Amino acid sequence: MIPSPLPKWLESSCVRGWRHEAELNSTNDFAIQHAATIDTAQLPYLVLADQQTAGRGRGANRWWSAEGALTFSLIIEPEQWRIGTHLWPRLSVAVGGAVAEALRELAPGEDIRLKWPNDVYLNGRKVSGILVETLPSAPNRLVIGIGINVENSFQDAPAEVTGRAISLVDALPEPPGRFETLAAVLRRLDADFQLLTTNPKVLTNRWRQRCFLTGKFISIGDVERTLSGTCLGLEDDASLLIQTEAGPQRCYAGVVTIAE
Ligand code: BTN
Repeated sequence: MIPSPLPKWLESSCVRGWRHEAELNSTNDFAIQHAATIDTAQLPYLVLADQQTAGRGRGANRWWSAEGALTFSLIIEPEQWRIGTHLWPRLSVAVGGAVAEALRELAPGEDIRLKWPNDVYLNGRKVSGILVETLPSAPNRLVIGIGINVENSFQDAPAEVTGRAISLVDALPEPPGRFETLAAVLRRLDADFQLLTTNPKVLTNRWRQRCFLTGKFISIGDVERTLSGTCLGLEDDASLLIQTEAGPQRCYAGVVTIAE
């Protein structure tokens, strides 16, 4: 991909290459398609879209992104932060922690929480979703897709949507803009990826303090099984510990449902 010059506000971030499109189907799809051809010197590479027409989420989730939403993907080589493949599951969970921390800076005093593995909640409703994907064409690289409701208001959305989702523009008296939010997230990602190898306890403890699920009765299902029980919180290896009838069980993947 031909390098485009970085704008001033990106120069001080960890990003070394970027592409900004008015519209893409999905920034993750675009990043996956091009990831193997991007020069290492351009990594982390940012793919930013003003609008996505077919944004994807984990499992069967979709990610609708109206104008004003922040939707982007980063192509990274985790080894740049000395993060080996054994730490990739923790990296995925750490991305949620980094987004939560960035939102805490931008929205001090608000209730910001994490729903395992990496959804971010603001005042009880989802404000950000994250999709981390591996690349068969470039096995040492990852695509980190992040969607944050920033300037897209849900004020005219149906109650079914406003009951689940929230946007910074509706929740905060002085909401940040998309680029301000992006810059804060990039700063925090870089800092937290460094902590992942130097002081991971800090990340785990911070995550535990913000866990939305601890103490709640939840079900967690993947292709093989569904487990139900009380969530005991995040383990050091980034799994979620559930107190089931058969005893404590660690979950490494799955979709979480909270019992009403
Ligand atoms: C989820 O909540 O299940 C994850 C949603 C992830 C959405 C982001 S938006 C930018 C990137 N491109 C995509 O197609 N998906 C991610």
